[in-house]
Amino acid sequence: MKSFISWIGGKKLLRENIVSMFPTNYDKYVEVFGGAGWVLFHKKEEKEEIYNDMNSNLINLFKIVKYHPDAFIKELEFYLNSRELFDNMKEEVNLKSLTDIQKATRFFILIKNSYGSKMGSFGVRKRDITKSIEYIKEISKRLNKVIIENLDFEKVLNKYDKEETLFYLDPPYFKTENYYKDIEFNEQDHLRLKEALSNIKGKWILSYNDCNYIRDLYKDYNIQEIERQNNLKIKYENNSRYRELIIKNY
Ligand SMILES: C[S@@+](CC[C@H](N)C(=O)[O-])C[C@H]1O[C@@H](n2cnc3c(N)ncnc32)[C@H](O)[C@@H]1O
Repeated sequence: MKSFISWIGGKKLLRENIVSMFPTNYDKYVEVFGGAGWVLFHKKEEKEEIYNDMNSNLINLFKIVKYHPDAFIKELEFYLNSRELFDNMKEEVNLKSLTDIQKATRFFILIKNSYGSKMGSFGVRKRDITKSIEYIKEISKRLNKVIIENLDFEKVLNKYDKEETLFYLDPPYFKTENYYKDIEFNEQDHLRLKEALSNIKGKWILSYNDCNYIRDLYKDYNIQEIERQNNLKIKYENNSRYRELIIKNY
């Protein structure tokens, strides 16, 4: 199935490629940098699955959709597709006085109605929020057995690592880290991730942008290139298509 939201750096276009590179023998699946969870929703459902992200608004949205879909949908029904409301919501989303359901609704609407899902400016394209509402119940069912975590990647790796675990990792890409406004990710974090992965007992598969820095950092692992349309509008050597790397320890 598809995710219910768009997300910067989301793996909508690559989800099939990534899942096809999964090993067959694992019994716990952990999506460490979850975002919209395009890979999680695309893969087959398994007994033990963990979705994690550091963004607490995003985690609140996933939890509310999982545990309180009806209340979430009811709250959404009050929504009017107006620019005025959108701007109010941007200010309101972090208010302490809101309930978690109200916060989740505002965060969801900001993603759905913003230009490029960046939650910055109101997107001119009219979106049919009713269709999203119908889909929420299906997503809620899919998340039924998924454990939702709100931790830094290193803690998740330590917490769930064992020989039978498969980690999928999709960190902020090198030199595009500032796309995620609420969370800082810097060169130290790229190094910290590499260090943490070198001590993992289980299997891991990692997505990155193709650049010399990352190729060099992971030179001891299995590196494969894949291509896709460049929807981040970043200037790479080859403007419209660019290569991504899939790096694996198996
Ligand atoms: C490239 S996006 C993941 C996209 C996701 N694969 C999808 O298909 O939508 C990277 C995610 O990493 C999260 N993130 C940033 N720093 C993190 C950290 N230290 N630990 C865990 N998650 C982090 C961001 O909030 C963002 O959602």
